[in-house]
Amino acid sequence: MKKVCVITGGGSGMGLAVAKILGKDNYIIIVGRTVKKLENALKELEAEGIEAEAFACDISDRTSVDKLAAHAKEVGIISSVIHAAGMSPHMGEAKTIMEANALGTINMNEAFYEVMEEGACIIDVSSMSAYLTPKFIMPMKGYKYSRIDKELFMKKMMARVNLFPKKQRSGVAYSISKNFVIWYAKTDAAKFGQKGVRVLSITPGSFKTPMAELEKDDTDGFIEHCAIKRYGDVEEIANLLAFCASDKASYLTGTDILCDGGCVASGVNPLKMK
Ligand SMILES: NC(=O)c1ccc[n+]([C@@H]2O[C@H](COP(=O)([O-])OP(=O)(O)OC[C@H]3O[C@@H](n4cnc5c(N)ncnc54)[C@H](OP(=O)(O)O)[C@@H]3O)[C@@H](O)[C@H]2O)c1
Repeated sequence: MKKVCVITGGGSGMGLAVAKILGKDNYIIIVGRTVKKLENALKELEAEGIEAEAFACDISDRTSVDKLAAHAKEVGIISSVIHAAGMSPHMGEAKTIMEANALGTINMNEAFYEVMEEGACIIDVSSMSAYLTPKFIMPMKGYKYSRIDKELFMKKMMARVNLFPKKQRSGVAYSISKNFVIWYAKTDAAKFGQKGVRVLSITPGSFKTPMAELEKDDTDGFIEHCAIKRYGDVEEIANLLAFCASDKASYLTGTDILCDGGCVASGVNPLKMK
């Protein structure tokens, strides 16, 4: 049977970069909503001799994610899932961002829990805004509802977002959703551990991708606070993702790895930035 790696957000940025590494010894399924983007990515992968296919799927839609998981299981043995799909503040309304990032992560972890086997690994991608945004903004007490009642969970998340002025809501939704991703991956580890599957999150700082280009006006200011005063190259995060997904990281689970060029370590407060 084929060793399969499923990569959400595999049509661009970090997802595509990690596909080029993991594609050396895995059959790759790249996932996203935009078929044209996936087709272009497939051409890039094929040019590198990588065996891959595209699967159109909206991660915020559970039925769509269940179909993806069932398909991946049909194709072979799932060795890893890199869940890199996400929406940044300039990509949509607050609710859509929350649905893609928070609900999307719940959908991915829940659906793939059913089909992953011993030795596999799932990595959820967060964002350094999860660390930089002051803790009092995060509705952490509501996170537990993600496992009890998803509708109530979404209501609680959006109630917090809606306390903010309209123009700040998509940014707040992004930070809360990414803070939730870290919590969710961490608290999923014991459950996945019973199956011998690892789950963790990776938190990128500022990396050169289409998303970062879109958010440039807001993120450029963080670079001067980093210990390494530049944007990260996409290969620098892709290598970390690939290592964590590999058997070399077989004792790594239930944790978050921050890869941000030392930005969070600087103690920068985004509320005090211009
Ligand atoms: N670049 C950075 O500086 C940075 C910093 C912190 C965190 N991150 C995180 O890193 C991850 C990768 O982002 P990137 O920088 O590589 O940006 P990117 O190139 O824009 O990749 C994001 C991908 O997610 C897919 N996507 C978005 N919503 C989706 C949905 N509902 N269902 C399925 N796919 C969806 C997009 O494809 P479609 O639009 O075709 O669906 C796109 O290919 C994201 O989770 C992002 O939040 C990035």
